[in-house]
Amino acid sequence: MVNILAKKSIGVLKEEAEESEVQALVTHDGVPLKRTLSAWSLVSLGIGCIIGAGIFVLTGHAAAANAGPAVALSFVLGGIACTFAGLCYAEMASTVPIAGSAYTYAYATMGEFIAWIIGWDLILEYALGAATVAIGWSGYVTSFLRDIGIDVPHDYASAPLAYDAANGIWSHTGAFLNLPAMLVIAAITVLLVIGIHESSRVNNVIVVIKVAIVIAFIVAGIGYVSTEHWVTASNPDGNFIPPNQGPGIYGWSGVLRGAGIVFFAYIGFDAVSTAAQEAKNPQRDMPIGILGSLGICTVLYVLVSFVITGIMPYDQLNVPDPIAVGVDAIGLKWLSPIIKLGAILGLTSVILVLLLGQPRIFYSMSRDGLLPPFGAKIHKRFRTPYVTTILVGIIVAVLAGLLPIGLVGELVSIGTLFAFAIVCVGVLALRISHPEIDRPFKAPAIYLVAPAGALSALALMLGLPGDTWLRLGIWMLAGLVVYFLYGMRHSKVAAAA
Ligand code: ALA
Repeated sequence: MVNILAKKSIGVLKEEAEESEVQALVTHDGVPLKRTLSAWSLVSLGIGCIIGAGIFVLTGHAAAANAGPAVALSFVLGGIACTFAGLCYAEMASTVPIAGSAYTYAYATMGEFIAWIIGWDLILEYALGAATVAIGWSGYVTSFLRDIGIDVPHDYASAPLAYDAANGIWSHTGAFLNLPAMLVIAAITVLLVIGIHESSRVNNVIVVIKVAIVIAFIVAGIGYVSTEHWVTASNPDGNFIPPNQGPGIYGWSGVLRGAGIVFFAYIGFDAVSTAAQEAKNPQRDMPIGILGSLGICTVLYVLVSFVITGIMPYDQLNVPDPIAVGVDAIGLKWLSPIIKLGAILGLTSVILVLLLGQPRIFYSMSRDGLLPPFGAKIHKRFRTPYVTTILVGIIVAVLAGLLPIGLVGELVSIGTLFAFAIVCVGVLALRISHPEIDRPFKAPAIYLVAPAGALSALALMLGLPGDTWLRLGIWMLAGLVVYFLYGMRHSKVAAAA
């Protein structure tokens, strides 16, 4: 049954891609997909989406609150989980002959219900991910503006709401709104309605800049690293892993929670798998693209976190712009604005990719009848899904304006990990139930890779706090209500039955 559904769905998807007046939504740029991407282009595509607020902001938070200097270990754990999940993603993506998101692939290969769960869950990755990166963007922009003599009042550039996880209490910080975070979302939303696409050439330039500033930070800072900086009030002996102070606070549980938090820094590598149909030689190039971009980022992340916690005490890193603060701490004032500008550029491109992706997932879900038809409305002139782009823009701007980065980032991490776990299990299940399906890319050692992917995603989820689990549960429950009240009744699959 699944097989028939799978084949039928793939057929439907193909037909839609051919008939659609908005091919740009299902192919990349309105042109049929060509196998043009080399292994290097795939690596570059991955790095372009990966390096962002995770390394530039959340590293500092995870070091200060959870892992201390051992945040470097958290990055290693995150990288391992992503490697397994990435290979499963690539196999699923290569099975479906059009470009798309994990939702599209799941719809074609695993059926409507699983696809709904993944699609609903991906809202956390894309929409909330954009909010998280926008909050990080705001931190670096206000810091850069301060360097050039423009003071944005703190109350207008930070979250009015704070959450005390230890006591489960929300409070008002006294700030008004994080206006820069809201503005960047508004500006990018306008660009997306008009129909901007990040070309691979622009992506390559941004990748070079991002990697260059990360390497510049490592090179500039490594000579100043001293284990004396590991000594803090919470770590009087200066251990690499500070002594545990409760669940998720230092010790091994802190390293694991840190891994769940900095996992955010790896999100985006799934973009490589979505290009499976454009890879010149998928069987060879997809693993190079995924493992290559993950490997390069893991090495850079581990080095950055080692340097940042080695040049200043980790308990001072809970700031909006930790990397720039680190550069200031070693006295290289001239490097600080360069790093900030590079970070701002890099973060902008990540927001663009995330805000581009979300309405297109809604578009696919609406086309499948799982969301109301307005989700698939296309602007006559710009040929973009403007209704959902604007709607997503407004909601994301409000969230970015109100919420603290840590809270939103954790929810993005847990949601994305959950999607990864489902994909890993699904890919293995499909291998067993339908070995005959054509898979241009097959993950190696699937019986090892898929369970390892699902289990490592689950392990990182388990490291995250209970209230984050609760939020994920409420979100997924809301998704089920929407599915049973709307999606199931209006779905194309139901209509065809
Ligand atoms: N990995 C991306 C970032 O760190 C989402 O911003």
